[in-house]
Amino acid sequence: MTEGPRGWGTPLHAAVLDATAVGPGATLLDLGCGTGLFARAAADRGARVTGVDRDPAAVAMASAEVPEGRFVVGTAEHPPAGPFDVVAAVQLLMHVVDPVAVLATAGRTGTVVAATVWGREDECDVRVFGEALAPWLDARPAADPVDLRGLAERAGLVVDRLDEVVCPFDYEDDDAVLGPLFDSALGRAVGRSAGPVALRDAVLDRLEPYRTDDGGYRLHNLFRVLVAHPG
Ligand SMILES: C[S@@+](CC[C@H](N)C(=O)[O-])C[C@H]1O[C@@H](n2cnc3c(N)ncnc32)[C@H](O)[C@@H]1O
Repeated sequence: MTEGPRGWGTPLHAAVLDATAVGPGATLLDLGCGTGLFARAAADRGARVTGVDRDPAAVAMASAEVPEGRFVVGTAEHPPAGPFDVVAAVQLLMHVVDPVAVLATAGRTGTVVAATVWGREDECDVRVFGEALAPWLDARPAADPVDLRGLAERAGLVVDRLDEVVCPFDYEDDDAVLGPLFDSALGRAVGRSAGPVALRDAVLDRLEPYRTDDGGYRLHNLFRVLVAHPG
């Protein structure tokens, strides 16, 4: 995953695989597979994994991460033909134009459909990065929370369960937090207008409540996991 420190998604991946009972021999289609960490977790449980992502670089990394899997460049809107036991959209729906269409297609491709999304802003400590950068950004309306159940129902799916999973984002020190931020397009833009020292101070100030005894930081973020089947 590109959204946080490496490994943060492990509890989320486990929750999806537990909730969909993925085990040896299960066929799983990973929509928006990214670098393949979810696919790796599924393959480690014995699943036969197919992954699709529109980003060729991600597909290459997923192929290296899971050599026994099959990964193709393509879209979640037009996925590889099924049927699959499980079709999973892990942290994908907020990136697609029409999440209902993606879920409806998933329902025609798999016996079980799983999808995950971020919780609301107030449920995710990573909001502190946005708060720290806010003085240098145009005011923006709060993002609407994703109504995962509503999306699934509009896609013609029957919701079996909707779980909440907390994933800690652990950073070992200031550099581990600031490095990726300064490398991001947004961080670079703010760094240019605010200056790197002001940006650094603003971020570390906001992070102070999340400091751990060993000099790192721990942010708790909530995710929602939906499991559904075609109606
Ligand atoms: C936030 S990443 C999540 C990656 C992976 N599922 C994970 O959880 O580690 C979103 C991924 O979805 C891919 N993506 C976005 N829109 C897509 C689409 N319409 N079809 C296929 N992949 C898409 C991006 O290229 C990116 O790799």
